[in-house]
Amino acid sequence: MQKLVTFLFFLVLPWISNAQQFVANYDEAKVPVFTLPDVLVFNNGTLVKTKKDWDRRRNEIYTIFEKEVFGVVPEWKGNVKSTIVSQKADAFGGIAKRKEVRLDFMNGDRKVSVMVLIYLPQNSKNAPVFLSYNFDGNHTTTLEPDVLMPDSWVANNKTFGIEDNRANEKGRGAAVSRWPIIEIVSRGFGVATVYYGDIDPDFDDGFKNGIQKLFDSKRDSTSWGSIAAWSWGLSRVMDYIETDKDMNAERVIMMGHSRLGKTSLWAGASDERFAMVVSNNSGCGGAALSRRKFGETVGRINTAFPHWFCDNYKKYNLKEELMPVDQHELLALIAPRPVYVASAAEDLWADPKGEFLSCVFASPVYELLGMKGLPSNVMPALSSPLAGTIAYHIRPGKHDVTPYDWQCYMDFAADYFKLKK
Ligand code: GCU
Repeated sequence: MQKLVTFLFFLVLPWISNAQQFVANYDEAKVPVFTLPDVLVFNNGTLVKTKKDWDRRRNEIYTIFEKEVFGVVPEWKGNVKSTIVSQKADAFGGIAKRKEVRLDFMNGDRKVSVMVLIYLPQNSKNAPVFLSYNFDGNHTTTLEPDVLMPDSWVANNKTFGIEDNRANEKGRGAAVSRWPIIEIVSRGFGVATVYYGDIDPDFDDGFKNGIQKLFDSKRDSTSWGSIAAWSWGLSRVMDYIETDKDMNAERVIMMGHSRLGKTSLWAGASDERFAMVVSNNSGCGGAALSRRKFGETVGRINTAFPHWFCDNYKKYNLKEELMPVDQHELLALIAPRPVYVASAAEDLWADPKGEFLSCVFASPVYELLGMKGLPSNVMPALSSPLAGTIAYHIRPGKHDVTPYDWQCYMDFAADYFKLKK
């Protein structure tokens, strides 16, 4: 009998521990007491005291994120060709000029094509540009009838009328509430957007589709997941921007929401050409501290989205306290460049307090580099942005990108880039 009980116990144990990964804690009283890795202490325990020290410490932290969280990008041996497929001088009644640029990634006979949709103010040469992935196709971000829709795999979505993993006309303009392009351009900014699935379709396909199929390297526990692939794609869009005479590559602001907010943080950390980074509701694996285990946890994200991170990240399922880094260090990798983190009050899954605390604990790096970190250690009231070189706000409402969020990002960027308000 005892043997049978022991046998049954071991049989259900994996199920219990798996189920544990799914139970989200939303009770502040149950947040474990934790100690964060000190961003200004080297792995060997010595202190980081100077800017020069920080460069070395930054490498240490970057390497850990690469090998333990997002995965290492293998060497790219292919080439990329850009083609302007459409141009319109008077989009939105003349407010903007519009371009669609196709990037063809090629390696031997393997090819992946990615479409970049760009709106620029008429006087565009110095306009800061928000570069941001969209979730469901470029045509969902605008009501303009002639913007191309993706022919790559898209997730089925009732609101967008997608049932066969192919985009169709029903999606046109369906995401405009997240893309106030006219307001953005009217304030002197540009927008460049790409459907993220053009780079890598967002499902667990064993890395056989998307950009990864153009790389020849064998996979191991440090190999890149989809977030690293999407981030890499943003750097390739940046390569294009550097060649576009209508754009200023020194004024590109990475902006991303949710999984694409995680992506924008990693892209900003990986590629110092991005002048500013905005993380909107990025949560677990993005701006939120993992050790708080509040809302989405490492175990939960790795189970639901096994293709987003490298396999090593799974070692920390239910063991966040063993992680050699935490997410405040991801923000610190962006220093001294400005970073804006935003939360939504009802988006507990993304742990607003954990997102805020990351900003607090990344601040000493900004200060070491002579910049202002987050100006307060106290969580601000709703809709009351805090802005140093790290900025933060929490607004009422759900997980989303709203006109208020955009207004805050534009105010912050207008100050930084000294645009007229
Ligand atoms: C899920 C996931 C989050 C992610 C979000 C999104 O909720 O658990 O980590 O941020 O999707 O991208 O919308």
